[in-house]
Amino acid sequence: MTDTHWRLTRDEDDVAWLDFDTADSATNTLSTPALHEFDRVLSALSAQPPRALVIRSAKRAGFIAGADIEEFTRIDSAAAARALVGRGWDIFNRLAQVPYPTLALIRGHCMGGGLELSLACRYRIAVDEPGTRLALPEVMLGIVPGWGGMKRLPEVAGPSAALDMMLTGKGLDARRARRIGLVDAAVPPRVMDKAARTLVTSGAPPRRLPWWQRLLNGPLKTLVAAQARRQVIRKARPEHYPAPYAIIDIWAKHGGNALAVPAGDAASLEAIFRSPTAKNLVRVFFLQERLKRLGKDSDFAPRHVHVVGAGVMGGDIAAWCALRGMQVTLQDQSVERIAPAIARAQTLYTKKFRGDRTRVRFTLDRLLPDPEGHGVARADVVIEAIFEDLEVKRTLFAALERRAKPEAVLATNTSSLRVEDIASALKDPSRLVGIHFFNPVAMLPLVEVVDGPQSDPEQVRRAAGFVRRIDKLPLPVKSAPGFLVNAVLGPYMLEALRCVDEGLAPETIDQALVAFGMPMGPVELVDTVGLDIALAAGKALTGGESEPPRALVSRVQAGKLGRKSGQGFYAWKDGKAQKAKAAEAPAGLADRIIEPLLQAAARCVDSGVVADADLADAGVIFGTGFAPFRGGPLHYLQQRDDAAHAQSA
Ligand code: NAI
Repeated sequence: MTDTHWRLTRDEDDVAWLDFDTADSATNTLSTPALHEFDRVLSALSAQPPRALVIRSAKRAGFIAGADIEEFTRIDSAAAARALVGRGWDIFNRLAQVPYPTLALIRGHCMGGGLELSLACRYRIAVDEPGTRLALPEVMLGIVPGWGGMKRLPEVAGPSAALDMMLTGKGLDARRARRIGLVDAAVPPRVMDKAARTLVTSGAPPRRLPWWQRLLNGPLKTLVAAQARRQVIRKARPEHYPAPYAIIDIWAKHGGNALAVPAGDAASLEAIFRSPTAKNLVRVFFLQERLKRLGKDSDFAPRHVHVVGAGVMGGDIAAWCALRGMQVTLQDQSVERIAPAIARAQTLYTKKFRGDRTRVRFTLDRLLPDPEGHGVARADVVIEAIFEDLEVKRTLFAALERRAKPEAVLATNTSSLRVEDIASALKDPSRLVGIHFFNPVAMLPLVEVVDGPQSDPEQVRRAAGFVRRIDKLPLPVKSAPGFLVNAVLGPYMLEALRCVDEGLAPETIDQALVAFGMPMGPVELVDTVGLDIALAAGKALTGGESEPPRALVSRVQAGKLGRKSGQGFYAWKDGKAQKAKAAEAPAGLADRIIEPLLQAAARCVDSGVVADADLADAGVIFGTGFAPFRGGPLHYLQQRDDAAHAQSA
């Protein structure tokens, strides 16, 4: 039987093999048409039941990427939300009840609805290779895994592991999925079909949770739920992020069935889909997709990166590039200056690979100290991250240009110098672009790709392609003070420090902005960046026209530079700011401090630093962590103004 999205065949042993192959797409998504067709396949099978059924993907990209997120954007009523959830819930219940044994053969990504489909099968096998990843990431979109995930994942993997997956959205590889019992086996690709056939025809009973896990998923649910709630509250406020709280409630009180929650309850589908959070997080998802596409305009396939400057930034940029598979040479004035960067890289890899020494070694082998700069001649991308000094950078680039391959991308990581001023030292200034990373490199997904007035557009595209290849999000910006991210953060931090000058405690200010949804308060951010850097950046951004905050100047003069010196606006101990209990913030404090950020973002669009408002929102969210549930600064500004107009009308 052949249809649009699914292909069904039966082999000589009467085992049915159902291949998912979404039409006109490289990835499998469970759109409404694909789900309906799956339902029809189940009907056909029930008319003539096979000995067993194996569901697998015909796509190289992976198993199933999840529901079709486009469809979420079209939900305009509570009834539509119920219909969408009800469809998957019913069809997967039907799958769970078929009389013949079923198995999901999972290779590559298996996300959201894809994992829920797998959970409705009697068995699951995951193919043990790097791309295999199983996750229920709905929470990141502000919604809940309503197609049976909240019911079946705790039954299969136990409630703690299940809640952990559902509340963080984090994925597991094949081996970890095996360890928690989410899959019955993790097998290498060459034996996967055979393993699937053997297991699905084995007659083995489906895996059952040990008795104590059944207790936790039964009579002791309330205790587990209370503990999960305590953990969530430390990370996300219910008024900002209702979905994780709803997941806990739906599991604990409604057997994992979102449709059973009465309308009016905070965990109801009506409440979840009505909250602006879900809409805004879906928006952020599409903004992220757009940034990813910006890196696809070029077929540039760099393999070797040469980084000059092994300090805070250069060292971490080099480490990140090697982690993402590049051959990296790292240059500085001496081996001694490079050594600390290699040590930091080792720490990063050990964390990323959970102590797997072989992978740490292999990755470190790609990161070569290169004090003489031999790597320049072989590099596809050369990134400069030396001291912020125009003349030194110009001299360096004149030399780099002579040694680099003619087609190599030449890039500076400068924060405050003009790309064109550095470029004029080159014979061919059009070769230079900016590739501006953020600190800490491993944490922040955004990288600004600076298109100087002299930059060759093709080099800018190639630079964006490189950024995407190392799994970061490229944002093209024009060469202007602070580009986008620092241009919006500067005025925001400045306003916060003015409030300190007016006598407000840093704790009060920071708490107000965290309550707004920022990942860290602005005063703590200044401490983290360094007070000296903040002072210099403020001068560069304002052209030295406005008086810097007194609280900032006096601390810099006293050598209190923030986290790095152990004392700034806060005292720092073991990498943590020591904070007193915050007093209640005066009304409107967060709005006052956030306003300059919103206005600066608008200015960046007006002056063409970023191409449009959506890109500005994307840049500020992925470059600063700006409250994602608000959908970005300009989106927030627009919504706020619309609400004000509606009220006054
Ligand atoms: P850093 O002071 O930590 O490191 C600079 C390194 O460059 C030092 O190890 C120094 O020995 C080396 N160096 C200087 N001249 C050199 C030369 N001619 N050849 C080889 N190596 C040389 O500086 P950091 O903070 O890493 O900044 C580097 C660049 O990155 C600057 O342009 C800065 O504006 C930019 N940046 C800094 C950020 C930050 O948060 N620190 C964030 C984003 C960009």
